[in-house]
This record gives sequence, C-alpha cells and structure tokens, in this order.
Amino acid sequence: MTAEEKRNNIDKLPTHVGIIMDGNGRWAESKGLPRLAGHRAGGDNLPRVARAFWAHGISYLTVYAFSTENWSRPQLEVQGLMEILRETLSRPDFLETLHKENMRLRHIGRLDRLTADLRKAISNVLERTKDNTGLTLNVAFDYGGREELLQAYQAMMQERIPPEAVNEETLRRYLYTIGLPDPDLIIRTGGEERLSNFLLWQSAYSEYYTTPCYWPDFDEAEVQKALQAYSQRQRRFGGLRVPG
Ligand code: IPE
Ligand code: IPE
Ligand code: MG
Repeated sequence: MTAEEKRNNIDKLPTHVGIIMDGNGRWAESKGLPRLAGHRAGGDNLPRVARAFWAHGISYLTVYAFSTENWSRPQLEVQGLMEILRETLSRPDFLETLHKENMRLRHIGRLDRLTADLRKAISNVLERTKDNTGLTLNVAFDYGGREELLQAYQAMMQERIPPEAVNEETLRRYLYTIGLPDPDLIIRTGGEERLSNFLLWQSAYSEYYTTPCYWPDFDEAEVQKALQAYSQRQRRFGGLRVPG
C-alpha cells in the first residue's frame, strides 16, 4: 500500500502523537546483547518511525527519551544514554536527514543537568532546523511531568503573576510544550500500562495505546496499527457525543 492509500484507509488521524519509547533493555536482553545495544537500536529506529508518522500526515511527534527518574539507573547506563544522544546529534548525516525530511527538532525538559557538550549539540540542531516546516520532532530528554509543572509554578511566582490571573492558558505558557497542541494519542511500546511521568498536564484527554512490541522493533506496520486503533476511538472530552 502506498502512503496515500494508507492515509485514505484511516479516517480519523491525530495531530500530535506522543511515544513512550520503552523496551530497549528487554529487546537487547532477549538477544543476549548489553542494554546499551538496545538503546542504540532504539535511537536508530527513531527516524524510520518519524518518517512513517509524517507520511500519514501527523504534524507533531513527542518522544520520551530520558525521564527525570532515569538518572537513578546505573551510572554506566546513564552515561551511555547521554553519549548516544550526543553522538547522534553531532553526526552530519543526522542533520542532513532532518533537513531532507524538512523536520524541525524541539526539546522539552531540563537542560541544566546535561554536560556543556550535550547542551551545545542540542542547541545547534534546534537552531539549524528551526525554519523547517514539516514534522515537529519534540524530544523529551531529562523530562518529567511533575518537574515541568513545578518549574512553571515557580516561574509564575517569580514573575509575581497575580493568582486570579492564573488560568489554564496562563499555565500553558509556562510549560515546556508552549505552542504545541495537546497530544491526541499516546503510544507506549514494551507492554507496560503507565505514563511514567510523561506529559501529565497535556495528556488529560489523550487516547492511550500500548503494544507489547519493544521500541527497536516498532516499525511502519506498528505505526499503521496504532493509528488504526486511534481511528476507532470515540473521544468525548467529558461531554456526550462529539459529532464527526
Ligand atoms: C526505554 O527503554 C529507554 C529509556 C528509559 C531510557 P528501557 O531502558 O526502559 O527498556 P526496558 O524497559 O528496561 O526494557
Ligand atoms: C519511561 O520508561 C521513560 C522513557 C521511555 C524514557 P521507564 O522504563 O523509565 O519507565 P518505568 O520505570 O518502567 O515506569
Ligand atoms: Mg523501561
């Protein structure tokens, strides 16, 4: 099936998809490989999945790559994850691919706990892709939903925003996701059924989809299955039937 045929095949599409890219470690262990080999394979899988979502007409993809709780992993694994991100961002072919696909990179989460090298690599790619008009690939790295809300409250207090001026729209302006629509669909690979601190505020009415497939194996057919499942959902946002 061509991308065009697939698009026509799925009638209701999300605008923004979030992915909890889980199962890298188990993927590696099932093959007798070290966990970091799983993280590498996971990183390599991202362009193919981003491309597949874009081919289906999805505009925003937010991928959870490292949580504020993932610092509690053994030091070697944490260092390895940092290194994989730094290497990927610094590869000339990575930037070329983003440009060729017209993708814009964004980051959500804390930057202050990353090394200066990694921060530089991130800001370089953000700057260089900021004018691309295709898929927005939003990478959640050192991201946690609770931390995001706390830093928003702190910033509002520091700026002395009067309490009566704080409403949903005000708060949204202090979240890392400023300017992005809420995710319509959140996919979790690796079979667990939890959010693990991902987009807590933004996911209030997201549709949730989980698959046992480990992240490095999540391919175009899995993308198609997830979108198909989404198109069957009936979203009501607390009301009765939403027409259409
Ligand atoms: C997800 O894979 C990637 C990160 C959390 C960094 P995991 O490393 O959690 O893989 P499993 O869940 O142990 O298989
Ligand atoms: C969630 O996966 C975080 C990322 C995918 C980056 P975890 O593997 O850290 O989640 P838990 O510990 O199983 O909840
Ligand atoms: Mg995991």
